[in-house]
Amino acid sequence: MADAGRIVAGALAPHPPHLVYADNPPQNEPNATCGWETLRWGYERLRKSLEDREFDVIVVHSPHWKTVQGTHVLGVPHFKSLSVDPIFPNLFRFHYDLNVDVELARAIVAEGQQQGLTMQLMENPDFRVDYGTIVASHLVRPQWDTPIVAISSSRSHHYYNNDVGTAEQLALGEATRRAIEKSGKRALLLASNSLSHRHFTEEPAIAEDMSAEHIYHHGQYLWDMHVIELMRQGRCEALLEEMPDFIEHATSECKEGSLQWLLGALGVPDYPATVHGYGTVIGTGNAIVEWNPAHKADRSNRAPGVSA
Ligand SMILES: [Fe+2]
Repeated sequence: MADAGRIVAGALAPHPPHLVYADNPPQNEPNATCGWETLRWGYERLRKSLEDREFDVIVVHSPHWKTVQGTHVLGVPHFKSLSVDPIFPNLFRFHYDLNVDVELARAIVAEGQQQGLTMQLMENPDFRVDYGTIVASHLVRPQWDTPIVAISSSRSHHYYNNDVGTAEQLALGEATRRAIEKSGKRALLLASNSLSHRHFTEEPAIAEDMSAEHIYHHGQYLWDMHVIELMRQGRCEALLEEMPDFIEHATSECKEGSLQWLLGALGVPDYPATVHGYGTVIGTGNAIVEWNPAHKADRSNRAPGVSA
C-alpha cells in the first residue's frame, strides 16, 4: 500500500457478555427479551460514528486473555469454535468464526521486542479465543467481515504494581502504533475493559431484570464520572497520573492494561473523546468512548490563540 498506515479510531469497548446476550445474535445460543439498553444503544452510536471511516483491521486488547510471560498476540489465520463464558455460561455460548491479520500480528510482536518488551506470537491452532476479545469485536463490528489482531493482557500490574503495568502498556501501545504505521493499513483499536469493576455475586432470577441493575457503590460511580470527564476534556495525561488510584479505589478493570495500551497507541490524547454510552452490568461501570485522531490534527492545524 502506498499510504502510511494509521489508526482511524480508538475506542474503549467493554465486554460484558450480557450485551451480546441481550442483542440476540444468531451466533449466541441463549436468548434474552431485553436488557442493558443504554449500553447497547451506546454501541449502536459507536458503530454509526465509525460508518464514515474505512478500516482494514481491528486490533483488540483483552483483559480476559491473561498471559504470564509477557504479551502474546494471536498468530493463526483462522479460528472457529464455541466460546463459553466461565462465569455466565447461561448467557454466553457464542459460536465464533474469525480471521486474524497474522502479518500485522507479527509486526506488532517484532516492534514490541525491539522496544524491549517480552512478546510472543500465539500459534496454537486449537487455542480458544477469549470472550473479552469476542464480545468487544462483535459489538463494534457484528458483521465479522474484518480481520482482527488480538493482544493479551500481561500480568505486570499484578506481579509488579500499577505504575510498572501502566508504563509497560503505554510502551506496548506505542509499539502497536509503529507497526500499524509501517504496515500501510488503517486500523480500528479497541480496549476491551470496564471502568469500575466491583460487582454483585448473585444474579436475579431473570438475568435481564433491570430492576436489579445499578452501580455497586456510589464511590465507584464518582470515580467513573471523574475518569469519563477527564476523557471528555481531553485530559488523558491527567487520567494516566490518577490511574493507580482509580485502579485501587474502584477495583477498576483498567488493572488489566487495555485502556493504557490504547492511550499509548493514540499518543495519549489531548483532544476530547466522544462518550457514546455509560451503564452498569452486575454493578460494574462500563463506558463506550471513542477517540478520533483526526481531532488531534484539527487542533494542530488551528491558528495560535484560536480555541475550540
Ligand atoms: Fe471482564
